[in-house]
Formats: sequence, C-alpha cells, structure tokens
Amino acid sequence: MKDEELLKTAAALLPEWFRAHRRQLPWREHRTPYTALVAELMLQQTRVEAARERYVEFLRRFPTAEALARASEDEVLKAWEGLGYYSRAKNLQKAAKIIAEEGFPTTFEGVRALPGVGDYTAGAVCSIALGLKTPAVDGNVVRVLSRLLADGRQADDGLKKEYAERLVCVYPAEAGDFTEGLMELGALVCVPNGEPACPACPWREICRAHLAGRESDFPVRAEKKPRTVQELNVFVVKCGGAYALRRRGKGLLSGLWEFPNAPKEEGFPAWLSSARLIAQKQATHLFSHVEWRMTGYFLELSTPPEGELFLTAREIKERYALPSAFKPFTPWLE
Ligand code: ADE
Repeated sequence: MKDEELLKTAAALLPEWFRAHRRQLPWREHRTPYTALVAELMLQQTRVEAARERYVEFLRRFPTAEALARASEDEVLKAWEGLGYYSRAKNLQKAAKIIAEEGFPTTFEGVRALPGVGDYTAGAVCSIALGLKTPAVDGNVVRVLSRLLADGRQADDGLKKEYAERLVCVYPAEAGDFTEGLMELGALVCVPNGEPACPACPWREICRAHLAGRESDFPVRAEKKPRTVQELNVFVVKCGGAYALRRRGKGLLSGLWEFPNAPKEEGFPAWLSSARLIAQKQATHLFSHVEWRMTGYFLELSTPPEGELFLTAREIKERYALPSAFKPFTPWLE
C-alpha cells in the first residue's frame, strides 16, 4: 500500500475507535470554542492528569471569554499558579479580550492569529470546536504516524509540518474525533517507551512498524540540546512576621512573584549583611531550556530594609502567584 492510501485507511478507522475508547475528560463535556481554547492552551505543556482539575477550577473562575477579559492579570496568573509557562496565561487573557470584543474567530487563520496560538493549538481548536479539517501534530502524533508509516526519518519540526500537510488530504468528516483520536492513540495505545499496546490498536493490521515487529525503532529521535545551568542564591527573608517578596522583571517568569535572589557569584547582598541565618537548603528546578541550581537561605532581619515589600505567609498563599521553582522554600513561611 502506498503511503497516502495507508493514511486514508487509517484515518477512516479512527473516529469510531475514538468514540468507543475515549477517556472522559472535563474539556470534552459542554465544549464551546472558548473552553476548547482554554483546554488546548493548558494542555500545551501540562499533562492531562495535572490539567484535569485545574481546567475545571479555571473555568469555574472564568466561565466565559468576557469573564477572563475583565479579570486583572494578577488574578489570572494566580489561577495559573504551578502550571508553569505563564506566558500561556497572559496570552489566553489577551485572546479572551479579542474574543470578547470581536467574537470567536471562525477560520483557521483567525484562530491561529490569537496570542499564544501556534499551528498545533489552532489545528486542535478548529477541528475539535469548529469541525474544520485542520490537523494538530505534536510529538505524540509524530510518534504514532512514524510507526504507522515505518518512517525512519528524524522526528523534528520539519517532519511535524510534513505530517500536518499530508493529514489535511485524509481528514474524515468527523474532524474533531479524528484529531482527538490521534491524541488518544498516542496517550493510551501507541505510548512512547516500553511496550505499546498494539493488540488494542485499531491500526494493528495496517501499521508497518507493528507488522515488522519494529515498534521500538520509531520515531527516530532528534538530539536534544542540554539545558543551561544557572546557580542562584534564594533569600527567604523574615521580618516581624512577614516575608520579602518581589515581582519579577522581563524574561523567564516575568510578572510573577519571587523571593529575592541573585546569581550565586554575587554572594549576599548588602541589605542582608545583618541578617540571622535560620536554615539553608539546596533545590533544583528544571525549565525547558534552563536548570536552576538554588541554595535557599532562610534569614531573619530585625529591622525592615528600605524599598522591600513584606507580606504575610497568608497573603502570599492567597493572592500572589509564586512559581513552582520557589516551592521548595515555602515550608519556611510559617
Ligand atoms: N492534549 C492536547 N489536547 C488534548 C485533548 N483535547 N485531549 C487529550 N489530550 C490532549
């Protein structure tokens, strides 16, 4: 069978399989274009299991684009706390403002032009919520298709793009079920490491990798660049029952809140020279391209320094979005 014929046969089998085997996920109930956008942005870098509850809470708080458009950015960031990649939350709110003004876009180009929406997310939202034949190809879909086709080329962005183009030609009428069917196959059956569950696969009789017993040969992975390591001192500074907190500037985690910190080579800042050391601990946090190796210092000051903001533990917990990187030090907040 030629590639195109194989893809077409495979595509025709998937929607029905999906309807019989799909997981019950909150974003698959009472779907609107807005809720689909929230879900797909949340799922860009957050696992399904971690996103489940957070999605429900987020929509309870911001049930419509109008509600999200009206909120303050700090409220939105607080609702996103711990999910990481906070530009998604900022972009989602910018998109909500556009949608509240102009209505939800009705074309791929219109959805793709919303802030924070790339080809994958636009393809997913348009097929799932608008019924358009627009593929959403991420690393999971590349894995599934590279096995179906026994494609030995390196799984990189170029291959992603090529698969998306080839899928357009084979999309069945049930566009959303096909898009989510591909995701489901990647999540439940055609899993990355270990044994894929080939006997449960709707493609078991046509998948070239399976027929050749070579599932583990695909995809051929592209090499990853190592993360840049940054060494930081993090200062949890207590003074009169409150703790120093700063808003981050531009760059990584911009607009979020942090404990005062500085590159390790800068040592202790002058304003902490009279502080008493209570405790110290090491922690590491991995971002996608950066690794923070942190030394946390729990310090007490007897007089508050000029220009620092001090907040109670309760205020920090209830209102300020503190990125997960700093969570190893929050047990020091009493
Ligand atoms: N990952 C990204 N989008 C998804 C969806 N709609 N369902 C399950 N997993 C997903």
